[in-house]
Amino acid sequence: MLQELETIYKEALEAIASVRDSEALRAWERTYLGEKGSVYGMLRSIGKLPKEERADFGKRANEVKEALLAAMTEREKLVSAAELARDLEEGQIDVTLPGRPHPTGGLHPSTHTLRELYRIWGDMGFQVYRSRDVEDDETNFTLLNIPEHHPARDMWDTFHTTTPGVILRTHTSPGQIHAMRELGDEGNEPIRVILPGMCYRYEQVTARSEMQFHQLEGLAVGRNIRMSDLRGTITEFARRFYGPKAKIRFRSSYFPFTEPSVEVDVECFLCGGEGCRVCKYSGWIEIAGAGMVHPTVLQNGGYDPTQWSGFAFGMGPERMTMNKHDIRDIRYFWNNDLRFLEQF
Ligand code: PHE
Repeated sequence: MLQELETIYKEALEAIASVRDSEALRAWERTYLGEKGSVYGMLRSIGKLPKEERADFGKRANEVKEALLAAMTEREKLVSAAELARDLEEGQIDVTLPGRPHPTGGLHPSTHTLRELYRIWGDMGFQVYRSRDVEDDETNFTLLNIPEHHPARDMWDTFHTTTPGVILRTHTSPGQIHAMRELGDEGNEPIRVILPGMCYRYEQVTARSEMQFHQLEGLAVGRNIRMSDLRGTITEFARRFYGPKAKIRFRSSYFPFTEPSVEVDVECFLCGGEGCRVCKYSGWIEIAGAGMVHPTVLQNGGYDPTQWSGFAFGMGPERMTMNKHDIRDIRYFWNNDLRFLEQF
């Protein structure tokens, strides 16, 4: 048996010299040192030897085992160094290969405009107030001084839901009522908010009008707010948004929830008022509807109109984006055509 042990030892040392990778090393370990490996096999059958030979054999077998373990550790170092070198070699980056294109996401043009509006109005002291998209008839119209069956309702073609009285808001103005009732502390606190959001109108979709679009409403309620405050505020906004030379003008108009009502134009920033395609050769671009909050609306918001006054405005972020970038068709905004969206 001792002879056999020496043969196994020699064979194992020879075999390990040709081991080149960790897989072969594991196989070698199983063969010679594993539970069922030959060295252990021999150790287990020690009982078959005559008593006086057992000690010598056991000693030698243990020596062989230690020597093989050492040889394995040694080999392991070589093998893993070789494998690392091979991995590095194979994984080397070919810097001459063309890069893989990396598609990047981007913000929607309306989001760009809205964020700029939030920043400017925020700097001017207006907080964002979020109001619901799904409204009731009463808040969208009646509380805004547009009674049922009043012809002024025709100014807004409405999407009705199957629940009577529940509609999609046609403008952000009903948010004025919510803001006053929620923030006003029963008509005792001044308010300065903007109300951005999507609006919906049951309209023929054309290059100039979509059935959904954003509005950004503004509302200021205070003790001595006057028309000149509206004018000054809008002028300051226009300077920040369109540049320090921006000029605005008010044209008298009509909205049931403001009195007096105006439409706000900014002098065309493309042609400087000379007349061009963007301003339709008028020199002016309409940017908002606005006015002094109607006493009835103040009252519906919980304010005493003899003590409080306010102004409101509503602007159209898509329209503003169209003017800014000379976009000639509003339908691009919700078409999800990447060729359009990727330009922003
Ligand atoms: N809500 C109006 C519209 O949709 C715009 C507006 C808002 C006018 C606030 C005056 C004051 O046309």
